[in-house]
Amino acid sequence: MRIDVVSLFPEFIAQCAGFGVVGRAQERKLLALHGWNPRDHAEGNYRRVDDRPFGGGPGMVMMIEPLQACLAAARAADPAPPHVIYLTPQGAPLTQARVRELAARPRLVLLCGRYEGVDERLVASAVDEEISIGDYVLSGGELAAAVVIDAVARLQEGALNDAESATQDSFEADGLLDCPHFTHPASHALGEVPAVLRSGDHAAIARWRRQQALGRTWLRRPELLDEAGLSRTDRALLEAFRQEACQTVPKKA
Ligand code: ADE
Repeated sequence: MRIDVVSLFPEFIAQCAGFGVVGRAQERKLLALHGWNPRDHAEGNYRRVDDRPFGGGPGMVMMIEPLQACLAAARAADPAPPHVIYLTPQGAPLTQARVRELAARPRLVLLCGRYEGVDERLVASAVDEEISIGDYVLSGGELAAAVVIDAVARLQEGALNDAESATQDSFEADGLLDCPHFTHPASHALGEVPAVLRSGDHAAIARWRRQQALGRTWLRRPELLDEAGLSRTDRALLEAFRQEACQTVPKKA
């Protein structure tokens, strides 16, 4: 897939996306990332990209024209029509389900705002979707764009090695949180690895993991269970987890 990022700091995005799974996805040609700087499309000696807001108040607003020209250049760089996303705290919250949909598209353009944001007329005319990565305010859309890039890159076919399979990730198994994971040593001053994980009984291990995923979701994000479509077996596993949790001293799951 191709992702074009419109940002006053395109190098920042390139840096963020240069490591680990995303860096490898680029090396494997599963992801082509291109940065576009609106300042390169601004007029005058000062190459101005922002101006004071109408109506007064603090901060600056990103101007229509440099963004429009920059978006046009980005669009024209490839024949595939892009889906244009503006990263903003006013956008729809990013979820794993949304990430899956975005990852299936051939081309995205990510528009990163700075200052107080982007002139609303540009947003209304050029943007297909507004996305927020959480209910907090960042100083620009770049970190949010890097989050989107990471989340969609790792879902590209061939981006993850077998050992990194995405199918067990939190939110991937029916929208539940992931179960806890352990590695060597089995015995440590910080505690023992649960015996079932060392039993070699694959059915029992799968049952334990499912129960832990259900239990953690119930403890930490109970609202996710409403959408999870639990089977009768799931309900029984969760009930047993609850019973046990009620009998033991509360501790972090
Ligand atoms: N830009 C600033 N804050 C943001 C957020 N929370 N999500 C997406 N883009 C942003």
